[in-house]
Amino acid sequence: MTKSPLKLAIIGGGSSYTPELVEGVLKRLDRLPVKEIHFVDIELGQKKLDIIEALARRMVEKVGADITIKASLDRRAAIEDADFVMTQFRVGGLQARANDERIPLKYDVIGQETTGPGGFAKALRTIPVILDICKDIEELAPNAWLLNFTNPAGLVTEAVQKYTKVKAIGLCNVPVSMKMMIAEMMNCSPDDLSLECAGLNHLVWAHRVWLDGKDITAEVLEKVGDGANFSMKNIFEEPWDPAFLKALGAIPCPYHRYFYQTAAMLAEEKEAAQSGGTRAEQVMETERELFELYQDTNLDRKPEQLEKRGGAYYSDASLNLVDAIYNNLNTVNVVNVRNNGTIASLPDDVVIECSAVIGSWGARPLAVGHLSPEVSGLIHQVKAYEQLTVEAAVHGDYDKGLMALANNPLVPDIKRAKAILDDILRINHDYLPQFNG
Ligand code: G6P
Repeated sequence: MTKSPLKLAIIGGGSSYTPELVEGVLKRLDRLPVKEIHFVDIELGQKKLDIIEALARRMVEKVGADITIKASLDRRAAIEDADFVMTQFRVGGLQARANDERIPLKYDVIGQETTGPGGFAKALRTIPVILDICKDIEELAPNAWLLNFTNPAGLVTEAVQKYTKVKAIGLCNVPVSMKMMIAEMMNCSPDDLSLECAGLNHLVWAHRVWLDGKDITAEVLEKVGDGANFSMKNIFEEPWDPAFLKALGAIPCPYHRYFYQTAAMLAEEKEAAQSGGTRAEQVMETERELFELYQDTNLDRKPEQLEKRGGAYYSDASLNLVDAIYNNLNTVNVVNVRNNGTIASLPDDVVIECSAVIGSWGARPLAVGHLSPEVSGLIHQVKAYEQLTVEAAVHGDYDKGLMALANNPLVPDIKRAKAILDDILRINHDYLPQFNG
């Protein structure tokens, strides 16, 4: 890669997370000569986009950086000649997410943004849009890297890998958050830790953790079992059973609670839905507060209130990746990429989340070989669900959709799978043209 200045295209630029991304760019100006950031959104998001544009300009001016900030509804202009295209959009907005959370709950099934039927619905809405974006990238910026944050990040990245030629890497803030939480419980610097991560997005395990080269996996499991903080803002902190963690032998991510502690998580969700609202409904309120603050012309930095959201370290995760690619760092980051034998028992062409060496050539995953039976059952079942979901989303295939939900471990029987699918298709009708022909 030539050392030319960088153009970033941010799709879904009107997101309330965007100031964190801008802060991440400004923190790295010595290593990343960003010359232009072009935020794009859709017409409905125009007002938020305008607010973000003005705030981003103030942030850039405050540090005296020479970065052109653009914001428009013109996706093609943003993508043209971009070096990195970052996707963080939400088809249907938070209302669609609230529907994703409420529909399964009606049937006593986990209602969650990315995990279970909620994530399935989000994938159906999102995959056709990302494939469309990829057509623009293929035409207007064929050398660009697509860094996909759009959820469900692993599944969406798998669709991109299977159906386009775009150089794509999926990203999530969970692995970096796990590392930060382990550093906190071990009272050490995150730089002294090494994690061997492998699994799927929002279903990733740290199989081993080393501190200064010493294997501390058992110690971390013990601390998590003893109640050390190991969750994200958007996930109920259901305590882990120490005996279970010891037997598992790998550190589960916060989202594993939905699979391993389903009844308790469902009870928490139902209670929240009846009192304060589902997570999406709570986030709507936080968003209102945030945009109120962002409009203040005296504000020229990311406000603390953003920390109420679940996406901690999201900007570090993406800009560390940009840094590793642009500067050919060969550092280890956790990414969502094509399996290619990394987890021996999964097909080559599926996307997994794993530790990988990142350089200008992209991501080289660190092989983990065969997973133990303790974890391999769950991962295979969820991967089958994901493969079927991609096919359902791309082809508008009802049968694949039904089989996807039937294979999801969080959906207990076919009757409920079918009822949930029918509700999802009906409520999302306007966002699912692939099913409407
Ligand atoms: C976590 C997940 C993200 C997700 C976010 C939701 O950080 O890793 O994929 O988007 O939580 O947070 P929110 O504040 O929107 O509930």
